[in-house]
Amino acid sequence: LATALTSVAIAQDNLNGLTVGFSQIGSESGWRAAETSVTKQQAEERGIDLKFADAQQKQENQIKAIRGFIAQGVDAIMVAPVVATGWDDVLTEAKEAEIPVILLDRGVDAPEDLYLTSVASDQIKEGRVAGQWLVDAVGDADCKVVELQGTVGSTPAINRKQGFEEALAGHDNLTIARSQTGDFTRSKGKEVMEGFIKAENGGADICAVYAHNDDMAVGAIQAIKDAGLKPGTDIKVVSIDAVPDIFAAMVAGEANATVELTPNMAGPAFDALSAYLADGTAPEKFIITESKLYTPADNPQGEYDTRKGLGY
Ligand code: AHR
Repeated sequence: LATALTSVAIAQDNLNGLTVGFSQIGSESGWRAAETSVTKQQAEERGIDLKFADAQQKQENQIKAIRGFIAQGVDAIMVAPVVATGWDDVLTEAKEAEIPVILLDRGVDAPEDLYLTSVASDQIKEGRVAGQWLVDAVGDADCKVVELQGTVGSTPAINRKQGFEEALAGHDNLTIARSQTGDFTRSKGKEVMEGFIKAENGGADICAVYAHNDDMAVGAIQAIKDAGLKPGTDIKVVSIDAVPDIFAAMVAGEANATVELTPNMAGPAFDALSAYLADGTAPEKFIITESKLYTPADNPQGEYDTRKGLGY
């Protein structure tokens, strides 16, 4: 154990004093805010000078920030890509400048040799886990589902939709009646859910809402309450992220299930970078984080307290 700890310490030491540029998407959700703060914390612990750029949801800002990092000659670049396409040119520029790029939490539709590694969850699995929970919860009853999708063109929106549909396939009692983007934000989640409720007999015809993230689910919960219905009972609520607010909703009986997405993508990313810089060790191309299901049976108050304690 002592040897293992020493070698980790030596490996981590080679990041001390390095400059890493981080192009973050923005601050659209509680999960995103947690990822930002964990990344800053992880950088500080390793003595990394983190250059942080908030893209305010715009790919053009991310591309500009990455070009700025290249011009500054940073030692590495991390990027959480807002959408999947349109990255080839800027990633090629980073490659030509011999700056390793690490993708965080979202994927890109670009050749794999343009980035060192991608640290993310299995987003199709997240959708499947959420869908399987609903299949089990509903049993043989008929169930009309409404879906709040994430940002159009982002890998979590594409993959979480696919995984959920896969889980529901063959269960003809469950149908996705309506599906629209809520852009991963609480306010749009609420607004879109209000429209779904209006279109579905004041919400009486809706059996469940599947939200691609917890923030949209929290917005939907508010819309359900405003319509005089009980979220969690009249309309089941299932989502993804496991942020404190969804556990608070579970404690209140207003949310039924969430799939955890760890905000600590930077820890594994820095470990991979450290090994790569030490001796050229190529990391796994895809470092996959866990996708654990939480329901009200899993001590939501304790989960809330733990996450709040970690500063999420
Ligand atoms: O890319 C991860 C997703 O982005 C999170 O699930 C969501 O909350 C965030 O906005």
